[in-house]
Amino acid sequence: MSDIFNYEIKIISAQETIPVRHPVLRPGKPIETCNFEGDNLNTTFHLGIYINQQIVGVVSYFKSSTNLLTETSQYQLRGMAVLTEYQGKGLGNLLVQHGDILLKAKKTNIVWCNAREIAIPFYKKNNFNIIGEPFNIGDIGLHYVMYKSLE
Ligand SMILES: CC(C)(COP(=O)(O)OP(=O)(O)OC[C@H]1O[C@@H](n2cnc3c(N)ncnc32)[C@H](O)[C@@H]1OP(=O)(O)O)[C@@H](O)C(=O)NCCC(=O)NCCS
Repeated sequence: MSDIFNYEIKIISAQETIPVRHPVLRPGKPIETCNFEGDNLNTTFHLGIYINQQIVGVVSYFKSSTNLLTETSQYQLRGMAVLTEYQGKGLGNLLVQHGDILLKAKKTNIVWCNAREIAIPFYKKNNFNIIGEPFNIGDIGLHYVMYKSLE
């Protein structure tokens, strides 16, 4: 449950995610490293959570399938990030819950992600399960594929 009640979640552009993606996911790296392939496809969507008109958290969803699962209608969650000073207040939960609602409206069966090891407890709290073996992504470190079924 969130202890911040004055929040707003909006669909935003890829560009609007950068003020959160950059400090949280690519600190000290060039701004271009915050752009993901497929960010501007019309099947991709991005959510931002705002407190007092300031964007403090983002998540993006890409129409993409993992070959670890056979369901045909899958979306990949990427770029999950909440500004450091706003973490641990339930905002990440709110973003994922909102994403689930929009994915269900698109008749999506599975949402999955490449979860950093450190974020596994967060995804578990949000009903994701690990599938397959861990793997390394560049210099970011060990990741696990995690997924959940959307009824
Ligand atoms: C991961 C992240 C998005 C979570 O957002 P958040 O707003 O801090 O998470 P919430 O406050 O909504 O936490 C949701 C639940 O996960 C749990 N959780 C979150 N981070 C956790 C951690 N590191 N260890 C254990 N539990 C954790 C919380 O206790 C909470 O449980 P509850 O619902 O029972 O209260 C955020 O911490 C972040 O941006 N981290 C750095 C970037 C990152 O690692 N992104 C993921 C890349 S795969």
